[in-house]
Amino acid sequence: MSEYKTIFQTISATAEAVVEDNGYYGNYGGSFIPEILVPAFAEIKEHFEAIKQDEAFWKEYCSLLADYSGRPTPLTYADRLTDYFGRAKIYIKREDLNHTGAHKLNNALGQAMLAKKMGKTRVIAETGAGQHGVATATAAAKLGLSATIYMGREDMERQYSNVFWMKRLGAEVIAVDYGSRTLKDAINEALRDWVSSFETTHYVLGTASGAHPFPAIVSYFQAVIGIEAKEQILRAEGRLPSRVYACVGGGSNALGVFQAFYPHDDVELVGVEAGGQGKGSGRHAARIAYGEGRAGVAQGFKTLFLQNNDGQMNDTYSLAAGLDYVGVSPILADLSERGRVRFTAATDTEVVEALEIIMKTEGLIPALESTHAFAGAFNDITESSGSDIFIINMSGRGDKDIFNVAEGLNDDEWKAFIRRKARQFEDGAR
Ligand SMILES: Cc1ncc(COP(=O)(O)O)c(C=O)c1O
Repeated sequence: MSEYKTIFQTISATAEAVVEDNGYYGNYGGSFIPEILVPAFAEIKEHFEAIKQDEAFWKEYCSLLADYSGRPTPLTYADRLTDYFGRAKIYIKREDLNHTGAHKLNNALGQAMLAKKMGKTRVIAETGAGQHGVATATAAAKLGLSATIYMGREDMERQYSNVFWMKRLGAEVIAVDYGSRTLKDAINEALRDWVSSFETTHYVLGTASGAHPFPAIVSYFQAVIGIEAKEQILRAEGRLPSRVYACVGGGSNALGVFQAFYPHDDVELVGVEAGGQGKGSGRHAARIAYGEGRAGVAQGFKTLFLQNNDGQMNDTYSLAAGLDYVGVSPILADLSERGRVRFTAATDTEVVEALEIIMKTEGLIPALESTHAFAGAFNDITESSGSDIFIINMSGRGDKDIFNVAEGLNDDEWKAFIRRKARQFEDGAR
């Protein structure tokens, strides 16, 4: 019991440091919701405040993380990658080793438990890369809730293996066929569902964005990443890292790993956005790094969005479906404005190059999302020295990206295999 209490107290102290009472983080955040959802948000706020004080809740949460998800995840010293560059010492926080292969399960389990506390029988979620959808379907199966997952058609094509798993895990997957058919459109559809279903249904938002208190809730459940990483690096090196790198879609893995280091000004926190086809291409999702995001209100909150002069959301693009989002966490927008988090972007080309280096030096296959964090660190590494320590948050594993990566690497054997398989299905159908 005392062990759970310690973890919970550290989680709450760390997450509390970024949570402001009115849901604003400097100029960003807030809650811009339709009137019909006011009772749903009031209920969530009330229960979120209650679970913060509820030791039994945290005991169950921490034991699910330990015995079901497999936490703590290791902090791996990347000796061969370190030798490859001959500069900073590189450590990798292994969120890929969570059950379901990404950091998303930390939040999905916590929110599914919150849903049960509120007496809900159903959860809904949006997903981009599919990892949050798989995590939500998994948490729903484990806790006995029904699940509906919204996903843009474009993302379903890119991440079909996750669609397959969500369905097999018992979730209903609904394709979203309008807009850019990616994450922002999936969020709109999930909100539409929620308006008519909140009495029975909790919306398990997958990232540290959306209306208050979602950024706070997600930060809370993800704080465990940085708490572990900080303890682990102190144990391994006896000191804090020089820099911590994380990719930024909506912002949940970044805030998860950053929060514990937030009070230590000498630790540089670096968020890596999707540079896609590069600055000026109009084909990216770098809201802060390319200086193109402008303050606006959409999807229930105020943040930096990629938008045109009329305030219409621009289409975004990234090779990594999970980073292809038009806005950014209001907490990160504020931390950037206050100079506490530096933003940079990695292009698709840099990401594919980084992936090959990581696979061949360390035998690791990061998700394309996570590979952005690596590519951001590799772009900076020439300015570092042997006395620096980098932590890179590997937010997920790359198995789900097999189709995109094989295409990106133009792998002929893979293409031949796909043709063979297609022929077999066609012959079987005749
Ligand atoms: C493995 C992985 N990393 C990162 C992200 C980006 O989300 P966030 O910025 O909330 O961590 C996703 C989103 O789907 C993901 O699947």
